[in-house]
Amino acid sequence: MQPLATNTPIAVIGAGAMGSGIAQVAAQAGHQVFLLDQREGAAHAGRQSVAKQLQRRVDKGKMEQSALDALLDRIQPISELSELADAGLVIEAIVEDLNIKRSLLADLESVCTEKAILATNTSSISVTALGANMAHPERLVGMHFFNPAPLMALVEVIKGLATSDEVAQIVYATAAAWGKKPVTATSTPGFIVNRVARPFYAESLRLLQEQTADSATLDALLREAGSFRMGPFELTDLIGHDVNYAVTASVFNSYYQDTRFLPSLVQKELVEAGRLGRKSGQGFYSYAEGAQKPEPATAEAASCNADTLVIEGNPGPLAALVKRLSDSGLKVIERDGPGRLCFGDAVLALTDGRMATERASAEACNNLILLDLAFDYAKASRLAITAAEQAPAQAVNDACALLQKAGMAVSHIADRPGLVVMRTVATLANEAADAALHGVASISDIDLAMKAGLNYPEGPLRWSDNLGFRLLHTVLTHIQQSYGEDRYRPALLLRKNRFAEQGFYS
Ligand code: NAI
Repeated sequence: MQPLATNTPIAVIGAGAMGSGIAQVAAQAGHQVFLLDQREGAAHAGRQSVAKQLQRRVDKGKMEQSALDALLDRIQPISELSELADAGLVIEAIVEDLNIKRSLLADLESVCTEKAILATNTSSISVTALGANMAHPERLVGMHFFNPAPLMALVEVIKGLATSDEVAQIVYATAAAWGKKPVTATSTPGFIVNRVARPFYAESLRLLQEQTADSATLDALLREAGSFRMGPFELTDLIGHDVNYAVTASVFNSYYQDTRFLPSLVQKELVEAGRLGRKSGQGFYSYAEGAQKPEPATAEAASCNADTLVIEGNPGPLAALVKRLSDSGLKVIERDGPGRLCFGDAVLALTDGRMATERASAEACNNLILLDLAFDYAKASRLAITAAEQAPAQAVNDACALLQKAGMAVSHIADRPGLVVMRTVATLANEAADAALHGVASISDIDLAMKAGLNYPEGPLRWSDNLGFRLLHTVLTHIQQSYGEDRYRPALLLRKNRFAEQGFYS
Protein backbone atom coordinates (compact mmCIF):
# COMPACT_ATOMS: atom_id res chain seq x y z
CA MET A 1 0.00 0.00 0.00
CA GLN A 2 1.26 3.49 -0.87
CA PRO A 3 1.73 6.07 1.91
CA LEU A 4 -0.17 9.33 1.78
CA ALA A 5 1.54 11.63 -0.73
CA THR A 6 3.55 14.44 0.84
CA ASN A 7 1.16 16.96 -0.70
CA THR A 8 -1.64 15.54 1.48
CA PRO A 9 -2.33 17.98 4.32
CA ILE A 10 -2.24 16.45 7.80
CA ALA A 11 -4.12 17.81 10.81
CA VAL A 12 -3.08 17.30 14.40
CA ILE A 13 -5.56 18.09 17.17
CA GLY A 14 -4.21 18.70 20.64
CA ALA A 15 -0.93 20.60 20.73
CA GLY A 16 0.44 19.21 23.98
CA ALA A 17 3.54 17.09 24.39
CA MET A 18 2.41 14.46 21.89
CA GLY A 19 0.52 16.62 19.38
CA SER A 20 3.42 19.05 18.88
CA GLY A 21 5.83 16.15 18.42
CA ILE A 22 3.56 14.46 15.88
CA ALA A 23 3.14 17.77 14.02
CA GLN A 24 6.94 18.02 13.84
CA VAL A 25 7.25 14.46 12.46
CA ALA A 26 4.65 15.09 9.74
CA ALA A 27 6.15 18.48 8.81
CA GLN A 28 9.64 16.97 8.70
CA ALA A 29 8.29 14.45 6.19
CA GLY A 30 7.19 17.38 3.98
CA HIS A 31 3.47 17.64 4.76
CA GLN A 32 1.50 20.79 5.35
CA VAL A 33 0.29 20.42 8.96
CA PHE A 34 -2.70 22.12 10.59
CA LEU A 35 -2.33 22.24 14.38
CA LEU A 36 -5.40 22.87 16.52
CA ASP A 37 -5.94 23.06 20.28
CA GLN A 38 -8.96 24.19 22.21
CA ARG A 39 -6.78 26.13 24.65
CA GLU A 40 -6.07 29.60 23.35
CA GLY A 41 -2.47 30.04 22.26
CA ALA A 42 -1.65 26.34 22.71
CA ALA A 43 -1.29 25.62 18.98
CA HIS A 44 1.15 28.55 18.61
CA ALA A 45 2.99 27.39 21.72
CA GLY A 46 3.17 23.88 20.23
CA ARG A 47 4.72 25.27 17.06
CA GLN A 48 7.12 27.29 19.21
CA SER A 49 8.19 24.18 21.08
CA VAL A 50 8.99 22.50 17.75
CA ALA A 51 11.02 25.58 16.79
CA LYS A 52 12.89 25.47 20.09
CA GLN A 53 13.69 21.77 19.77
CA LEU A 54 14.96 22.06 16.22
CA GLN A 55 16.86 25.32 16.83
CA ARG A 56 19.24 23.23 18.94
CA ARG A 57 19.97 21.12 15.88
CA VAL A 58 20.58 24.25 13.82
CA ASP A 59 22.91 25.62 16.51
CA LYS A 60 24.88 22.37 16.46
CA GLY A 61 25.19 22.57 12.67
CA LYS A 62 23.02 19.49 12.19
CA MET A 63 20.24 21.33 10.34
CA GLU A 64 20.16 24.33 8.01
CA GLN A 65 18.33 27.42 9.30
CA SER A 66 16.50 27.55 5.96
CA ALA A 67 15.26 23.96 6.43
CA LEU A 68 13.96 24.86 9.89
CA ASP A 69 12.22 27.96 8.55
CA ALA A 70 10.61 25.95 5.75
CA LEU A 71 9.50 23.26 8.21
CA LEU A 72 7.96 25.82 10.54
CA ASP A 73 6.16 27.41 7.59
CA ARG A 74 4.51 24.05 7.02
CA ILE A 75 3.05 23.97 10.57
CA GLN A 76 0.00 26.18 10.58
CA PRO A 77 -1.78 26.83 13.87
CA ILE A 78 -5.54 27.00 13.29
CA SER A 79 -8.42 27.79 15.62
CA GLU A 80 -11.47 26.28 13.93
CA LEU A 81 -12.16 22.69 12.97
CA SER A 82 -13.55 23.85 9.62
CA GLU A 83 -10.04 25.00 8.66
CA LEU A 84 -8.83 21.40 8.47
CA ALA A 85 -11.46 20.29 5.99
CA ASP A 86 -8.80 19.54 3.35
CA ALA A 87 -6.75 17.24 5.58
CA GLY A 88 -6.26 13.69 4.29
CA LEU A 89 -5.28 12.42 7.73
CA VAL A 90 -6.35 13.87 11.07
CA ILE A 91 -4.51 12.67 14.17
CA GLU A 92 -6.09 13.46 17.49
CA ALA A 93 -3.81 13.78 20.53
CA ILE A 94 -6.23 15.45 22.95
CA VAL A 95 -7.03 14.57 26.52
CA GLU A 96 -7.32 10.80 27.29
CA ASP A 97 -11.09 10.70 27.79
CA LEU A 98 -13.45 8.42 25.86
CA ASN A 99 -16.39 10.82 25.71
CA ILE A 100 -14.36 13.90 24.81
CA LYS A 101 -12.56 11.97 22.07
CA ARG A 102 -15.87 10.55 20.79
CA SER A 103 -17.37 14.00 20.61
CA LEU A 104 -14.34 15.29 18.68
CA LEU A 105 -14.56 12.37 16.23
CA ALA A 106 -18.25 13.15 15.62
CA ASP A 107 -17.33 16.78 14.87
CA LEU A 108 -14.51 15.62 12.58
CA GLU A 109 -16.86 13.39 10.60
CA SER A 110 -19.01 16.42 9.89
CA VAL A 111 -16.15 18.65 8.64
CA CYS A 112 -13.74 16.25 6.94
CA THR A 113 -14.06 14.83 3.45
CA GLU A 114 -15.33 11.27 3.14
CA LYS A 115 -11.87 10.05 2.18
CA ALA A 116 -10.09 11.53 5.18
CA ILE A 117 -8.54 9.04 7.59
CA LEU A 118 -9.12 9.74 11.27
CA ALA A 119 -6.43 8.53 13.65
CA THR A 120 -6.21 8.51 17.41
CA ASN A 121 -3.02 8.63 19.46
CA THR A 122 -4.76 7.14 22.48
CA SER A 123 -2.55 4.94 24.63
CA SER A 124 -5.28 3.21 26.61
CA ILE A 125 -8.74 3.68 25.12
CA SER A 126 -10.18 1.01 22.84
CA VAL A 127 -10.17 2.11 19.21
CA THR A 128 -13.26 -0.06 18.77
CA ALA A 129 -15.07 1.87 21.53
CA LEU A 130 -13.98 5.21 20.04
CA GLY A 131 -15.43 4.21 16.68
CA ALA A 132 -18.68 2.78 18.01
CA ASN A 133 -20.80 5.88 17.42
CA MET A 134 -19.14 6.99 14.22
CA ALA A 135 -20.98 7.00 10.92
CA HIS A 136 -17.87 5.49 9.29
CA PRO A 137 -15.83 3.66 11.93
CA GLU A 138 -13.88 1.91 9.16
CA ARG A 139 -11.83 5.07 8.69
CA LEU A 140 -10.77 5.31 12.34
CA VAL A 141 -7.40 3.79 13.24
CA GLY A 142 -5.03 4.04 16.18
CA MET A 143 -1.72 5.74 15.42
CA HIS A 144 0.10 5.37 18.71
CA PHE A 145 3.31 7.37 18.86
CA PHE A 146 5.72 7.21 21.78
CA ASN A 147 7.07 10.11 23.78
CA PRO A 148 8.95 12.09 22.50
CA ALA A 149 7.36 11.45 19.11
CA PRO A 150 10.19 12.95 16.99
CA LEU A 151 12.78 10.70 18.66
CA MET A 152 10.97 7.43 19.34
CA ALA A 153 10.87 5.21 16.26
CA LEU A 154 7.85 3.08 17.12
CA VAL A 155 4.31 3.71 15.91
CA GLU A 156 1.67 1.12 16.86
CA VAL A 157 -1.00 1.07 14.17
CA ILE A 158 -4.11 -0.14 15.99
CA LYS A 159 -7.01 -1.81 14.26
CA GLY A 160 -10.40 -1.53 15.90
CA LEU A 161 -13.09 -4.06 15.09
CA ALA A 162 -14.41 -1.89 12.25
CA THR A 163 -11.13 -0.40 10.98
CA SER A 164 -10.68 -1.21 7.30
CA ASP A 165 -7.54 -3.07 6.24
CA GLU A 166 -6.89 -0.41 3.64
CA VAL A 167 -6.94 2.42 6.19
CA ALA A 168 -4.60 0.52 8.53
CA GLN A 169 -2.24 -0.23 5.65
CA ILE A 170 -2.16 3.39 4.43
CA VAL A 171 -1.37 4.61 7.95
CA TYR A 172 1.28 1.90 8.33
CA ALA A 173 2.91 2.93 5.04
CA THR A 174 2.67 6.60 5.95
CA ALA A 175 4.33 6.06 9.35
CA ALA A 176 7.12 4.17 7.56
CA ALA A 177 7.47 7.01 5.02
CA TRP A 178 7.83 9.38 7.99
CA GLY A 179 10.89 7.41 9.08
CA LYS A 180 9.10 5.48 11.82
CA LYS A 181 9.04 1.76 12.55
CA PRO A 182 5.35 0.85 12.42
CA VAL A 183 3.82 -2.33 13.79
CA THR A 184 0.22 -3.49 13.51
CA ALA A 185 -1.80 -4.49 16.58
CA THR A 186 -5.40 -5.21 17.41
CA SER A 187 -7.28 -2.94 19.77
CA THR A 188 -6.65 -4.80 23.03
CA PRO A 189 -5.78 -3.29 26.43
CA GLY A 190 -2.25 -1.85 26.44
CA PHE A 191 -1.86 -2.74 22.73
CA ILE A 192 1.64 -4.26 22.46
CA VAL A 193 4.14 -2.21 24.43
CA ASN A 194 2.06 -1.12 27.41
CA ARG A 195 0.97 -4.72 27.91
CA VAL A 196 4.13 -6.72 27.22
CA ALA A 197 6.29 -4.33 29.28
CA ARG A 198 4.28 -4.74 32.49
CA PRO A 199 6.51 -7.51 33.95
CA PHE A 200 9.59 -5.32 33.56
CA TYR A 201 8.20 -3.10 36.32
CA ALA A 202 6.12 -5.69 38.18
CA GLU A 203 8.81 -8.28 38.81
CA SER A 204 11.35 -5.78 40.13
CA LEU A 205 8.71 -4.17 42.33
CA ARG A 206 7.93 -7.60 43.70
CA LEU A 207 11.60 -8.47 44.19
CA LEU A 208 12.00 -5.20 46.08
CA GLN A 209 8.96 -5.93 48.22
CA GLU A 210 10.42 -9.36 49.00
CA GLN A 211 13.66 -7.75 50.22
CA THR A 212 15.67 -9.44 47.49
CA ALA A 213 17.95 -6.43 47.00
CA ASP A 214 17.61 -2.66 47.13
CA SER A 215 16.39 -0.58 44.20
CA ALA A 216 19.86 0.61 43.18
CA THR A 217 21.11 -2.98 42.99
CA LEU A 218 18.10 -4.22 41.01
CA ASP A 219 18.42 -1.26 38.62
CA ALA A 220 22.14 -1.92 38.18
CA LEU A 221 21.55 -5.60 37.47
CA LEU A 222 18.97 -4.93 34.77
CA ARG A 223 21.25 -2.34 33.20
CA GLU A 224 24.61 -4.01 33.53
CA ALA A 225 23.64 -7.68 33.19
CA GLY A 226 20.32 -7.31 31.34
CA SER A 227 21.55 -4.57 28.96
CA PHE A 228 18.32 -2.63 29.43
CA ARG A 229 18.85 1.09 28.88
CA MET A 230 17.47 1.95 32.34
CA GLY A 231 16.50 -0.07 35.38
CA PRO A 232 12.80 -0.22 36.32
CA PHE A 233 13.08 2.09 39.34
CA GLU A 234 14.99 4.88 37.62
CA LEU A 235 12.68 4.48 34.61
CA THR A 236 9.45 4.70 36.62
CA ASP A 237 10.92 7.67 38.49
CA LEU A 238 11.29 9.27 35.05
CA ILE A 239 7.87 8.23 33.71
CA GLY A 240 6.13 9.29 36.95
CA HIS A 241 4.70 6.76 39.40
CA ASP A 242 1.19 8.18 39.02
CA VAL A 243 1.32 7.56 35.26
CA ASN A 244 2.99 4.14 35.47
CA TYR A 245 0.70 2.95 38.27
CA ALA A 246 -2.38 4.16 36.37
CA VAL A 247 -1.32 2.25 33.24
CA THR A 248 -0.75 -0.92 35.29
CA ALA A 249 -4.10 -0.55 37.07
CA SER A 250 -5.87 0.10 33.76
CA VAL A 251 -4.33 -2.97 32.07
CA PHE A 252 -5.02 -5.08 35.21
CA ASN A 253 -8.68 -4.07 35.29
CA SER A 254 -9.10 -4.35 31.53
CA TYR A 255 -7.93 -7.97 31.71
CA TYR A 256 -10.46 -8.69 34.44
CA GLN A 257 -7.87 -8.67 37.19
CA ASP A 258 -5.59 -11.29 35.72
CA THR A 259 -2.90 -11.56 38.42
CA ARG A 260 -0.26 -11.39 35.74
CA PHE A 261 -0.87 -7.63 35.71
CA LEU A 262 -1.28 -7.15 39.48
CA PRO A 263 -0.30 -3.61 40.51
CA SER A 264 2.27 -3.17 43.29
CA LEU A 265 1.59 -1.93 46.80
CA VAL A 266 5.10 -0.50 46.85
CA GLN A 267 4.31 1.74 43.90
CA LYS A 268 0.85 2.58 45.23
CA GLU A 269 2.42 3.84 48.44
CA LEU A 270 4.78 6.09 46.50
CA VAL A 271 1.80 7.57 44.68
CA GLU A 272 -0.06 8.06 47.96
CA ALA A 273 2.97 9.79 49.41
CA GLY A 274 3.23 12.11 46.42
CA ARG A 275 6.63 10.65 45.62
CA LEU A 276 5.96 10.65 41.91
CA GLY A 277 9.57 10.52 40.76
CA ARG A 278 11.72 13.18 39.13
CA LYS A 279 8.83 15.57 38.64
CA SER A 280 8.12 15.73 42.39
CA GLY A 281 11.78 15.60 43.41
CA GLN A 282 11.46 12.18 45.05
CA GLY A 283 10.51 8.72 43.92
CA PHE A 284 12.61 5.65 44.60
CA TYR A 285 15.50 8.09 44.50
CA SER A 286 15.88 11.68 45.65
CA TYR A 287 16.29 14.37 43.03
CA ALA A 288 16.95 17.12 45.56
CA GLU A 289 19.89 19.33 44.73
CA GLY A 290 23.11 17.58 45.60
CA ALA A 291 21.42 14.24 46.25
CA GLN A 292 23.64 11.28 45.46
CA LYS A 293 22.21 8.20 43.81
CA PRO A 294 22.83 5.18 46.04
CA GLU A 295 25.43 2.70 44.88
CA PRO A 296 24.43 -0.89 44.04
CA ALA A 297 25.49 -3.54 46.55
CA THR A 298 28.69 -5.18 45.40
CA ALA A 299 30.23 -8.20 47.11
CA GLU A 300 33.99 -8.37 47.62
CA ALA A 301 35.69 -11.74 47.68
CA ALA A 302 38.32 -12.52 50.28
CA SER A 303 41.33 -14.52 49.19
CA CYS A 304 40.65 -17.67 47.22
CA ASN A 305 43.23 -20.36 46.55
CA ALA A 306 41.44 -21.98 43.62
CA ASP A 307 43.17 -21.64 40.26
CA THR A 308 41.24 -24.03 38.01
CA LEU A 309 37.71 -23.84 36.71
CA VAL A 310 36.12 -27.21 36.14
CA ILE A 311 33.31 -27.35 33.59
CA GLU A 312 30.99 -30.26 34.25
CA GLY A 313 29.05 -30.97 31.05
CA ASN A 314 27.52 -28.44 28.66
CA PRO A 315 27.41 -24.99 30.29
CA GLY A 316 24.64 -23.82 27.91
CA PRO A 317 24.24 -20.01 27.91
CA LEU A 318 27.15 -19.82 30.39
CA ALA A 319 29.56 -20.84 27.59
CA ALA A 320 30.33 -17.16 26.90
CA LEU A 321 31.19 -16.67 30.57
CA VAL A 322 33.50 -19.69 30.48
CA LYS A 323 35.23 -18.24 27.43
CA ARG A 324 35.62 -14.89 29.15
CA LEU A 325 37.19 -16.59 32.17
CA SER A 326 39.48 -18.67 30.02
CA ASP A 327 40.48 -15.54 28.04
CA SER A 328 41.35 -13.89 31.35
CA GLY A 329 44.02 -16.55 31.84
CA LEU A 330 42.16 -18.95 34.13
CA LYS A 331 42.94 -22.62 33.67
CA VAL A 332 39.81 -24.44 32.49
CA ILE A 333 39.30 -28.20 32.42
CA GLU A 334 36.23 -30.11 31.29
CA ARG A 335 34.57 -33.29 32.50
CA ASP A 336 31.15 -34.89 32.22
CA GLY A 337 28.35 -33.60 34.37
CA PRO A 338 25.01 -31.77 34.53
CA GLY A 339 26.17 -28.41 33.13
CA ARG A 340 27.79 -26.79 36.18
CA LEU A 341 30.97 -24.85 36.88
CA CYS A 342 33.14 -25.77 39.87
CA PHE A 343 35.63 -23.35 41.34
CA GLY A 344 37.15 -23.81 44.77
CA ASP A 345 34.29 -24.63 47.13
CA ALA A 346 31.62 -23.21 44.80
CA VAL A 347 29.41 -25.18 42.44
CA LEU A 348 27.87 -22.67 40.05
CA ALA A 349 24.85 -23.12 37.77
CA LEU A 350 22.56 -20.90 35.74
CA THR A 351 19.22 -20.41 37.50
CA ASP A 352 16.42 -22.64 36.25
CA GLY A 353 13.77 -20.74 38.23
CA ARG A 354 14.07 -22.72 41.46
CA MET A 355 15.39 -21.12 44.60
CA ALA A 356 19.00 -22.11 45.26
CA THR A 357 17.93 -23.64 48.56
CA GLU A 358 15.36 -25.89 46.90
CA ARG A 359 17.66 -26.91 44.06
CA ALA A 360 20.61 -27.55 46.39
CA SER A 361 18.41 -29.89 48.37
CA ALA A 362 17.07 -31.64 45.24
CA GLU A 363 20.56 -32.07 43.79
CA ALA A 364 22.17 -32.88 47.14
CA CYS A 365 24.69 -30.09 46.57
CA ASN A 366 24.99 -27.73 49.54
CA ASN A 367 27.62 -25.59 47.83
CA LEU A 368 25.30 -24.54 45.01
CA ILE A 369 25.54 -20.93 43.89
CA LEU A 370 23.08 -19.81 41.23
CA LEU A 371 23.97 -17.31 38.54
CA ASP A 372 21.57 -14.85 36.97
CA LEU A 373 21.09 -14.43 33.23
CA ALA A 374 23.14 -11.83 31.38
CA PHE A 375 22.17 -10.51 27.97
CA ASP A 376 25.78 -11.07 26.91
CA TYR A 377 28.09 -12.80 29.38
CA ALA A 378 31.03 -11.67 27.29
CA LYS A 379 30.29 -8.02 28.08
CA ALA A 380 28.20 -7.87 31.27
CA SER A 381 29.86 -5.73 33.92
CA ARG A 382 27.75 -7.06 36.80
CA LEU A 383 26.01 -10.31 37.63
CA ALA A 384 23.69 -11.42 40.43
CA ILE A 385 24.38 -14.56 42.38
CA THR A 386 22.37 -16.24 45.08
CA ALA A 387 23.31 -19.03 47.44
CA ALA A 388 21.48 -21.93 48.99
CA GLU A 389 20.62 -21.36 52.64
CA GLN A 390 22.86 -24.32 53.45
CA ALA A 391 25.83 -23.04 51.40
CA PRO A 392 29.02 -22.44 53.36
CA ALA A 393 30.45 -18.90 53.26
CA GLN A 394 33.51 -20.18 51.42
CA ALA A 395 31.36 -21.29 48.46
CA VAL A 396 29.87 -17.78 48.16
CA ASN A 397 33.32 -16.27 48.45
CA ASP A 398 34.77 -18.50 45.75
CA ALA A 399 31.88 -17.76 43.37
CA CYS A 400 32.49 -14.02 43.85
CA ALA A 401 36.21 -14.51 43.32
CA LEU A 402 35.58 -16.37 40.07
CA LEU A 403 33.32 -13.68 38.61
CA GLN A 404 35.69 -10.96 39.72
CA LYS A 405 38.41 -12.70 37.72
CA ALA A 406 36.22 -12.07 34.67
CA GLY A 407 36.07 -8.38 35.63
CA MET A 408 32.46 -8.50 36.79
CA ALA A 409 31.00 -6.77 39.82
CA VAL A 410 28.98 -9.28 41.81
CA SER A 411 25.70 -8.55 43.58
CA HIS A 412 24.85 -11.24 46.11
CA ILE A 413 21.08 -11.12 46.41
CA ALA A 414 18.60 -13.00 48.60
CA ASP A 415 17.50 -16.43 47.42
CA ARG A 416 14.39 -15.84 45.29
CA PRO A 417 13.12 -17.87 42.31
CA GLY A 418 14.65 -16.88 38.97
CA LEU A 419 16.91 -14.12 40.33
CA VAL A 420 16.50 -10.78 38.55
CA VAL A 421 17.35 -10.70 34.84
CA MET A 422 16.22 -14.28 34.17
CA ARG A 423 12.93 -13.68 35.92
CA THR A 424 12.38 -10.41 34.07
CA VAL A 425 13.17 -11.86 30.65
CA ALA A 426 11.09 -15.00 31.30
CA THR A 427 8.02 -13.02 32.32
CA LEU A 428 8.45 -10.55 29.42
CA ALA A 429 8.69 -13.43 26.95
CA ASN A 430 5.70 -15.06 28.61
CA GLU A 431 3.58 -11.96 28.15
CA ALA A 432 4.83 -11.52 24.58
CA ALA A 433 3.96 -15.15 23.80
CA ASP A 434 0.47 -14.68 25.21
CA ALA A 435 -0.03 -11.52 23.14
CA ALA A 436 1.03 -13.47 20.04
CA LEU A 437 -1.32 -16.34 20.91
CA HIS A 438 -4.21 -13.90 21.24
CA GLY A 439 -3.48 -12.36 17.85
CA VAL A 440 -2.58 -8.94 19.25
CA ALA A 441 0.30 -8.75 16.79
CA SER A 442 2.74 -10.97 14.93
CA ILE A 443 5.79 -12.41 16.67
CA SER A 444 8.16 -10.15 14.74
CA ASP A 445 6.00 -7.04 15.34
CA ILE A 446 5.91 -7.75 19.08
CA ASP A 447 9.69 -8.00 19.20
CA LEU A 448 10.13 -4.93 17.02
CA ALA A 449 7.72 -2.94 19.22
CA MET A 450 9.66 -3.76 22.39
CA LYS A 451 12.95 -2.79 20.79
CA ALA A 452 11.82 0.35 18.96
CA GLY A 453 9.38 1.52 21.65
CA LEU A 454 11.42 0.86 24.77
CA ASN A 455 14.97 0.28 23.51
CA TYR A 456 15.05 -3.28 24.83
CA PRO A 457 18.33 -4.92 23.84
CA GLU A 458 16.42 -7.74 22.13
CA GLY A 459 12.81 -8.64 21.45
CA PRO A 460 11.55 -10.98 24.20
CA LEU A 461 10.59 -13.77 21.79
CA ARG A 462 13.90 -13.67 19.90
CA TRP A 463 15.65 -13.56 23.28
CA SER A 464 13.71 -16.66 24.32
CA ASP A 465 14.81 -18.43 21.12
CA ASN A 466 18.42 -17.43 21.73
CA LEU A 467 18.24 -19.17 25.12
CA GLY A 468 16.88 -22.37 23.57
CA PHE A 469 13.28 -23.52 23.27
CA ARG A 470 13.27 -25.13 26.72
CA LEU A 471 14.86 -22.75 29.20
CA LEU A 472 12.25 -20.04 29.80
CA HIS A 473 9.43 -22.58 29.97
CA THR A 474 11.38 -24.44 32.66
CA VAL A 475 12.15 -21.20 34.53
CA LEU A 476 8.50 -20.13 34.53
CA THR A 477 7.26 -23.57 35.56
CA HIS A 478 9.63 -23.48 38.54
CA ILE A 479 8.72 -19.93 39.53
CA GLN A 480 5.05 -20.88 39.31
CA GLN A 481 5.68 -23.90 41.56
CA SER A 482 7.60 -21.77 44.06
CA TYR A 483 4.82 -19.22 44.46
CA GLY A 484 1.91 -21.52 43.68
CA GLU A 485 0.50 -18.61 41.69
CA ASP A 486 -1.32 -18.42 38.40
CA ARG A 487 0.63 -15.24 37.66
CA TYR A 488 3.61 -17.27 36.42
CA ARG A 489 1.73 -19.87 34.37
CA PRO A 490 3.76 -20.48 31.23
CA ALA A 491 2.09 -19.20 28.07
CA LEU A 492 0.75 -21.89 25.78
CA LEU A 493 3.13 -21.02 22.94
CA LEU A 494 6.18 -21.39 25.21
CA ARG A 495 4.85 -24.77 26.29
CA LYS A 496 4.16 -25.80 22.70
CA ASN A 497 7.66 -24.74 21.60
CA ARG A 498 9.17 -26.73 24.42
CA PHE A 499 7.49 -29.94 23.27
CA ALA A 500 7.82 -29.25 19.55
CA GLU A 501 11.50 -28.54 20.25
CA GLN A 502 11.41 -25.36 18.23
CA GLY A 503 11.60 -21.62 18.77
CA PHE A 504 9.28 -18.76 17.81
CA TYR A 505 11.30 -18.06 14.68
CA SER A 506 12.34 -21.56 13.69
P1 NAI B 1 -1.26 17.01 26.93
O1 NAI B 1 -2.09 17.26 28.12
O2 NAI B 1 0.18 17.43 26.94
O3 NAI B 1 -1.95 17.68 25.65
C1 NAI B 1 -3.31 17.54 25.33
C2 NAI B 1 -3.74 18.79 24.60
O4 NAI B 1 -5.04 18.58 24.06
C3 NAI B 1 -3.83 20.01 25.52
O5 NAI B 1 -3.06 21.07 24.95
C4 NAI B 1 -5.32 20.33 25.55
O6 NAI B 1 -5.57 21.73 25.61
C5 NAI B 1 -5.78 19.77 24.23
N1 NAI B 1 -7.19 19.41 24.19
C6 NAI B 1 -7.91 18.78 25.15
N2 NAI B 1 -9.18 18.57 24.73
C7 NAI B 1 -9.26 19.09 23.48
C8 NAI B 1 -10.29 19.18 22.50
N3 NAI B 1 -11.50 18.70 22.74
N4 NAI B 1 -10.00 19.76 21.31
C9 NAI B 1 -8.77 20.26 21.06
N5 NAI B 1 -7.76 20.23 21.96
C10 NAI B 1 -7.99 19.62 23.14
O7 NAI B 1 -1.38 15.43 26.64
P2 NAI B 1 -0.38 14.48 25.86
O8 NAI B 1 0.58 13.87 26.83
O9 NAI B 1 0.15 15.18 24.67
O10 NAI B 1 -1.37 13.30 25.42
C11 NAI B 1 -2.29 13.46 24.39
C12 NAI B 1 -2.81 12.10 23.95
O11 NAI B 1 -1.71 11.27 23.58
C13 NAI B 1 -3.57 11.32 25.01
O12 NAI B 1 -4.58 10.57 24.38
C14 NAI B 1 -2.51 10.40 25.58
O13 NAI B 1 -3.03 9.25 26.18
C15 NAI B 1 -1.73 10.05 24.34
N6 NAI B 1 -0.36 9.63 24.53
C16 NAI B 1 0.45 10.25 25.46
C17 NAI B 1 1.76 9.83 25.63
C18 NAI B 1 2.64 10.49 26.62
O14 NAI B 1 3.69 9.91 26.97
N7 NAI B 1 2.32 11.68 27.11
C19 NAI B 1 2.33 8.73 24.82
C20 NAI B 1 1.42 8.22 23.82
C21 NAI B 1 0.13 8.63 23.72
